[in-house]
Amino acid sequence: MRDCISLIPSCRKVDLLCPDCLAPASVDKLIEIRDVRHAYSTASGPLPVLAGLELSVREGGFTAVVGPSGCGKSTLTRLVAGLMIPDSGDVYLHGERVTTPRATVGMAFQNPVLLEWRTILQNVLLPLEIVPTTLSQRAKEERARSLLALVGLEGFEDKRPSELSGGMRQRASLCRALVHQPEVLILDEPFGALDAFTREDLWQIMHELKAREPFTGILITHDLRESIFLADQVVVLSGRPARTQYVLDVPSEAPRDLDMMYTAESADMLATLRDQIRIAREGEAQVAQTSSGASQ
Ligand SMILES: Nc1ncnc2c1ncn2[C@@H]1O[C@H](COP(=O)(O)OP(=O)(O)O)[C@@H](O)[C@H]1O
Ligand SMILES: [Mg+2]
Repeated sequence: MRDCISLIPSCRKVDLLCPDCLAPASVDKLIEIRDVRHAYSTASGPLPVLAGLELSVREGGFTAVVGPSGCGKSTLTRLVAGLMIPDSGDVYLHGERVTTPRATVGMAFQNPVLLEWRTILQNVLLPLEIVPTTLSQRAKEERARSLLALVGLEGFEDKRPSELSGGMRQRASLCRALVHQPEVLILDEPFGALDAFTREDLWQIMHELKAREPFTGILITHDLRESIFLADQVVVLSGRPARTQYVLDVPSEAPRDLDMMYTAESADMLATLRDQIRIAREGEAQVAQTSSGASQ
C-alpha cells in the first residue's frame, strides 16, 4: 500500500484519493492520463487506437509501457508531449490539461536523428536554441559538455554523428533530450536497434542520468528485462485499441545492477509480464478475427 497523497502526513491509506482526506487526485502525479480514447482517420475509415488508457506517473517516477506492436504506444507519447489531443479523456501534466506542445518535455527515439552538418556538441545544444532560456552561451555549452561527459562522450564533442557508433549516437541523443532540463523525458524504444551488450551499457547510463537529472520518465519498450531494470512501474497495454490492462510495481529496493535479472523476484516479475503480453496478443487476435468476420 502506498502513501496517501493528501496533505495529512500521517495518512498512509491509498495512492490516489483517500476518502479520509479528500485530497485532489493529482497532487503528486506529474503525468495523469484518464480514460483516453482516440481513433485515427484513415482512408478506410476510423482506426480506433486507444480505448480506455489510464496511466499516472509520480514526480520523479519512471514508468515503462509495454504492449503489442501497433497497439498505440507511440500515440501515447504524442499525447503526453501535447503533439496531439485525444478524441476524449484527459492528459494532465501537474494537474494542468495538456492541449498544446510542451517545451518541458524531452524526447528520444529508436533512431537518434542527429544532424550530420552539426558536431555532436552542436546537436546536443539544439533544444537550447529553440526553448527559451536565460543561460548564457557559455553556460549552455558547459551544460552540454557535462552531460556528454556523464554518458562517456568526453572528447567526442567536435565529431560528426557519422564518426560515432550507434550506441554513442544514442547517448548523444539522450543528452540532447535532457539538455534543456525537461520535467518529463519520453523515450520511445531508444535502445531497440542496439546490440545486447551496448543496450546493457545504455541501461547503466540511464541509471546514472536518472541519479543526476531530476526528470520524470516514460519509457516505451519491447524488452521486458529493460522495463524492470529501469522503471519503478510497468504498464502493460492491451492489443489495439489499447486500454491499460495491467500495472506492475517494481519494488524500489530491487537492486539495479545486471545481477538483479537473475533473482527469483525478477524471474517472477518477468513471468507475470510475459503472461500479460500473451493475454494482450490473444485479445488482439480475437478482435482481428471478429472484425474480419464482420467485414465478410
Ligand atoms: N497519423 C496516423 N494516421 C493513421 N494511423 C496511424 C497514425 N499514427 C499511427 N497510426 C496507426 O495507429 C496504430 C498505433 O500506432 P502507434 O501508436 O505508432 O503504435 P505502437 O507505437 O504501439 O507500435 C498503428 O496501427 C498505426 O499504423
Ligand atoms: Mg511505436
